[in-house]
This record gives sequence, structure tokens and C-alpha cells, in this order.
Amino acid sequence: MLSEDKLQKIKEFTSTLSREELIWLNGYIAGQAGALQGGLPSSGTPAALNKKITLAYGTETGNSKKLATQLAGIAKKKGIGVKLAGLDQYRFTDLAKEEYFFVVISTQGEGEPPLLAKKFYDQLHEQAVELKKMKFGVLALGDTSYAQFCKTGEDIDARLEALGAHRMLPLKKCDVDYEEDSLHWIDNVATVLQTSVGSVPAVVAPLVEDKKPAGKKHYNGIIVTNINLNDRGSNKETYHVEISTDEDLDYLPGDALGLIPANCDAAVEEIIALTGVDPELQIQTAKVKAPVRELLKKHLNILYPLKSTIKQYAAITGYEIPEELRLSIPDLLKKYPIKAAAAFEEVIKILTPQAPRLYSISSAPGSHGLGRYI
Ligand SMILES: Cc1cc2nc3c(=O)[nH]c(=O)nc-3n(C[C@H](O)[C@H](O)[C@H](O)COP(=O)(O)O)c2cc1C
Repeated sequence: MLSEDKLQKIKEFTSTLSREELIWLNGYIAGQAGALQGGLPSSGTPAALNKKITLAYGTETGNSKKLATQLAGIAKKKGIGVKLAGLDQYRFTDLAKEEYFFVVISTQGEGEPPLLAKKFYDQLHEQAVELKKMKFGVLALGDTSYAQFCKTGEDIDARLEALGAHRMLPLKKCDVDYEEDSLHWIDNVATVLQTSVGSVPAVVAPLVEDKKPAGKKHYNGIIVTNINLNDRGSNKETYHVEISTDEDLDYLPGDALGLIPANCDAAVEEIIALTGVDPELQIQTAKVKAPVRELLKKHLNILYPLKSTIKQYAAITGYEIPEELRLSIPDLLKKYPIKAAAAFEEVIKILTPQAPRLYSISSAPGSHGLGRYI
């Protein structure tokens, strides 16, 4: 189709380009072709610059919202128009009109959508809306210590496709250290937007390689200071907490910090006494195999069991327990005693993992110094 002369010139020119420059050029040429096809004057800009996306987030503890806001800023800097939308506010009737729809969403409970996104999630699964016009991508936040890792993201990704939407890039599932993966994801979003011409998107594999899971470093720590910063009479509680660790900390601003609390000995020993379970008995749970005492101390959520855990407890023990009742496991055992230690071994298997409490580090070791203190 091209004359020998033109082809030769292109070969000579492209041989000087890096992979990133070739990807940019690919988008640029696609944009030029798209403009010609529509009879529009050429704008001379890469295709992604003409695209407007909706970036919707579903969050419970704020991570997805914070992340989506950050990713929207990055996308805008790349020249992409972004409408940022919380799924709690999203008008479901707008969905069929969306052309480029990207979702950042977490999973909560035991594989459930965040409370604020539940209405959207239910509508999406219950209504047979046609999404032929839509191209989409999903970034799922989760935690691999849960059995249903990133379930909500998986559900939304699968449902959008089932409703006729075109997946522009594969579902990305992120563990608690999601920062780096999500930056790759937004780069990939920009790349696929550049390579999509008019209404026909090119399906491309992610162009930025996903990293290997970052090695998590564990430190043991004890709380040495815990002060409520709010004044007497305030109905808020904001704590200044200092933790001393058993070895020097190595961190950078932006690193994720997960606090994995251990349960108090009194609650653990109370459970053992109330059930008569052998504390040295090894039990395999969804994630770990360890002696009962260690599971109760370090690995399982015994103080704030989920509604679904209480429901399963009722099924194992045969009690009728009101749905709204929220008790710790020791209190539950006192009100609804277990009749045999073997039944408690079943209960251990339904307890959810102890979830880390996540924070992102903003201080720099350069100004605070490395040490055994955070
Ligand atoms: C009570 C609770 C339950 C959770 N359940 C799951 C789960 O079933 N699957 C999963 O992958 N992650 C689960 N997570 C982890 C969250 O998805 C993860 O912390 C995410 O970053 C939270 O994002 P958000 O702040 O936007 O809600 C759970 C977290 C909490 C606190």
C-alpha cells in the first residue's frame, strides 16, 4: 500500500525509536486515521487526548476513593478527560451512555461489595441493561489474606462483559500494597486509549509488566505511647500512637504500613477455658495451620466477628441467634455455650482472618532518621 520510498523512510525513522516512543507513535497515527475517517481536520494530538473517561470508585474505608482521585490526576496530566464518580452517588441510568468506564473498587466482608457501592452492585447484577457502547477496565483492591480475594472487582468485571461491554484491559487485582500496581494500571489505561480508534478499541495486553509481589517485611512492635489528641468533652477520638520495634525500620514515604494486631491474652485464655479445646491442637484454617492458642492470639478475628460468622456459629451450635446481635467470641460463648470441644474446632474454621489496619507513610526517614520507632 505504501510506495517503496515511503516504506523505506518509515523503517529508517522507526528503527531509531524506543519501545515507549513506538507505542506513542502508534496512538498518534491511530488518532490521525480516526480524524480522517470522521472527516475532521487533523488535530495533531495523540488519540488518548481526545478521550473522556468515567473513573468510578467504590470504597468502604477510603482507599479506593483516595486512589481513584490520585489516578484521575495522573490521567488528566496525560491529557485524558476524567469524570471522577463515587458509586454511591452514581446514577445507574447513566451507565448505558458511558463510552469509557473504569472502576476502582474494594471487596469487604466475606467477598461483599463496599456498603456504599452495594446499590450499584445490586442494580448491575439485577438489571439487564445493554452496554454495547461501553469499553471498560476494572482495578480491584483486596487483601490476599481473605478467602474471597478481590471478589467484588471480579464480579463487576465479569458482569460488565456479560452485559455486552468490551474489556479494554484485563482485570487487575491488587493486594494491600496496591500503589505500584495501580500506577501501572493507569499507564495501561492511557496506552489502550491511545491505541483505540473511534469506537473500535484495539485489544492489547498490558504494556507495563506487573511487578512481582513486593516482599513484605514484618517487624514486631509494642505500643509505647497512646494519647487521645482530642480535648475532654469532644465526641471524636484521634490517637497519637508510638510503636517501638525489635529492629531498625526501613521505609520510604508512600510505603504502605499494615498494623497486624494480636488479640489480648485474656480473651484467648477465656475462649480456651469456656470451650475446653486443646490449646496445642493444630488446626488448618483458610490461610494458616497452627496450634489453637496461636490461631486465637495472632491469626483470627475473635473480637469483632462478622454478621455472617455469627450466622455460621448459629448453624454449627443449633442456637437461634438474632441477626443483629454483634458479640465478641468470648461473649458469644458465654451467652450461647458450646457443648463439645469438637464443635469449637468447627467454629475456629469459620472465623475470618485478623485484618491488618492500613496506613500510608508520609514521613521521610531522611528527616526523622531510621530507627526502631514509628
Ligand atoms: C472487614 C474487612 C473485610 C474485608 N474482606 C475482604 C475480602 O473478602 N476480600 C478481599 O480481597 N479483601 C477484603 N478486605 C480488604 C479490603 O478490600 C482492602 O483493605 C481494601 O484496600 C479496602 O479498600 P477501601 O478502603 O476502598 O474499602 C477486607 C477488609 C476489611 C476491613
